[in-house]
Amino acid sequence: MRSDRTTRRAALALAAGFSVAAALPALAQDSPKKIRIGVIGAGNIGGTIGTLWVKDGHEVMFASRHPETLAPMIAELGPKAKAGTPEEAITFGDAVFVAVPYKAYPDLAKDLAASLAGKVVLDAGNATQKRDGALYDEVQANGIGTTSAKYFPGAKLVRAFNAANYKVFAKAGADGGKDRPGGRMAIPIAGDDPAALKVAEGLVRDAGFDPVVVGPLKDADKFAMGSSGFGHEATAPELREKLGLGK
Ligand SMILES: NC(=O)c1ccc[n+]([C@@H]2O[C@H](COP(=O)([O-])OP(=O)(O)OC[C@H]3O[C@@H](n4cnc5c(N)ncnc54)[C@H](OP(=O)(O)O)[C@@H]3O)[C@@H](O)[C@H]2O)c1
Repeated sequence: MRSDRTTRRAALALAAGFSVAAALPALAQDSPKKIRIGVIGAGNIGGTIGTLWVKDGHEVMFASRHPETLAPMIAELGPKAKAGTPEEAITFGDAVFVAVPYKAYPDLAKDLAASLAGKVVLDAGNATQKRDGALYDEVQANGIGTTSAKYFPGAKLVRAFNAANYKVFAKAGADGGKDRPGGRMAIPIAGDDPAALKVAEGLVRDAGFDPVVVGPLKDADKFAMGSSGFGHEATAPELREKLGLGK
């Protein structure tokens, strides 16, 4: 028997007009499964957002180059959480969340770009001058979405969860966002692949937020670190207004 929740999700997805079977294979099955998510980088942001997905019932594999170090976190989160290597998390995930320092992207790309090709990849990385050096310069020159796409060619990239601090996300997403005064916090997202954007919208909601699709990947600059669209703790209508997106 399918759970009410799974049935509701599938109905919502179908109502949104995209192929559930293509975008979210697990939801297409006649079972109460949610999707599997691989989280590359189980630090501040990967740990926070991955935890919100586990609490919503998704199966999450948190990746580390030293997966054994994640044992305490996995034990606390329970059976929906697993630890693995980045390669294992990509294989595991119907979707992948990348949450590593931006300067690691070239190395990550050498090892993992081929495995990420064709996957829905939510990308939270921000480039900072102090930490990321040459990668920061590249992002300033070419834009953050274009730069991420260069390192992960063929991935169905969606920029997401980059535009606020992890402590803000942890608080605003607690209890599915229901307890946030004034309504759920909005998360700006941008991507070129319509089906991947739908998957990302669903995962943003499942983490306890409301997605605001800003535009194609190049529009990720509108909410990149250092831009006027960064750092807003706003509801979806408020964020749409701040970003000039109309109603
Ligand atoms: N912190 C925030 O509030 C926040 C908010 C939005 C976006 N972001 C962005 O999200 C990214 C991660 O930030 P964070 O604060 O979560 O960093 P963090 O706490 O330092 O965690 C980053 C994780 O990335 C992994 N990692 C580092 N280098 C790697 C590599 N070469 N290959 C694979 N994994 C690697 C590390 O895992 P192992 O060492 O265990 O492998 C580490 O746990 C950054 O780009 C940041 O700008 C951060």
